[in-house]
Amino acid sequence: MSDLALLGGQPAKTKAFPAWPHYDEREAQALQTVLESRIWWRTPGTQTLRFEQAFAQAHHAAHGIAITNGTHALEVAIGALGIGYGDEVILPDFTFIASASAVLSVGALPVLVDVALTTYNIDPAQVEAAITPRTKCILAVHMGGLPADMDALLEIGRRHNIPLLEDCSHAHGSEWRGQRIGALGAAGTFSFQASKTMTAGEGGIVITDDADFERKARSITDCGRLPGHWFYEHFDYASNYRLSEWQGAILNVQLERMDTQTALRHHNACALDSLLREIDGITPQAIDDRCTRNGHYLYLFHYDSAAFGGLSTARFIEALHAEGIPSQATYPPLSALTVFADGAYKKRIPPGMPDDALRHAPFVNSNRIMREVVGLPHATLMGDDQDIREIGAAVRKIQQYARELL
Ligand SMILES: Cc1ncc(COP(=O)(O)O)c(C=O)c1O
Repeated sequence: MSDLALLGGQPAKTKAFPAWPHYDEREAQALQTVLESRIWWRTPGTQTLRFEQAFAQAHHAAHGIAITNGTHALEVAIGALGIGYGDEVILPDFTFIASASAVLSVGALPVLVDVALTTYNIDPAQVEAAITPRTKCILAVHMGGLPADMDALLEIGRRHNIPLLEDCSHAHGSEWRGQRIGALGAAGTFSFQASKTMTAGEGGIVITDDADFERKARSITDCGRLPGHWFYEHFDYASNYRLSEWQGAILNVQLERMDTQTALRHHNACALDSLLREIDGITPQAIDDRCTRNGHYLYLFHYDSAAFGGLSTARFIEALHAEGIPSQATYPPLSALTVFADGAYKKRIPPGMPDDALRHAPFVNSNRIMREVVGLPHATLMGDDQDIREIGAAVRKIQQYARELL
């Protein structure tokens, strides 16, 4: 019989990774408290308000506005920046659809640019080249938890007087030069959807240091109301993006664990980096010394099939799964999605806008990343040294017996 688990052998993983989401009696108690308070919604509540303040503080920011999910958090932030019909926002081709759909939600054009091949983050040189008089925002995504090059992006933003928005959905607790991400530019958005490193099933937040932005974002989140005015006075077109007290209560508890869990993932990821770098054909996502902590929503690495006898990425992922290591291919580039490739997105922008979202194609790196980069979910970084060693052993085993899978 083969040694490979896919062909009937013993899996390399001998014990399960820690279950996710993590919870204990504190979440149960927090929910019970909300239940018994009979205050289940944000407006008169205390739980979500407390979470907004604590989460912002934990990210070195002055203000937090809790929001229904990470997609809506981006929509609110874009609205609060005053971006609208006919404006352009520059963002990476390699990200989740929400980064772009939020731009389309206000009738603005997402202008896609390629990412760097080693970090999988937006390439500042491409950003600079894509700026036009219509550019109203640069949207950076901290892929997998690794901050984008904030020095370069902030400098470009300053020089052109364009605000920088951070999509931090992968990067809770990440740091750039010792400063938490999220309020390094104009504002930052987070997601608390079920797969994220802190979760209430769904949820989101926008953080900022800018009091004027905070006022606008809160108004957009709360039906166009303004503080100090009558409940039924609505000052602008807006919507209801409020997070419930149930979610606020759960997130208060999840936040208590954020620092220790982030430190653990960072530590385990560094150990895994060292192990995988020893394996021919495996190159972990680049380390940037200016990233003083990586929140690691994902552990990403480049897979070179040539070093595995030509074994395809899909078959490698299948073999890793069989060895007990959950893994996945990464996002398809936005430009490859039907909504962009077939032009359906154009329904959202003003007719006759001078140029289109894909004007900087081809996106050579994001297409290569889609084919050749593998992601491990963060639960794989939440265990102990043995868990990390077993991931390394699984990859080595697949390499050793790759020919049996061809
Ligand atoms: C990069 C990125 N931005 C935005 C979002 C949207 O978050 P949500 O699923 O909470 O709407 C996600 C969620 O997966 C994401 O990965």
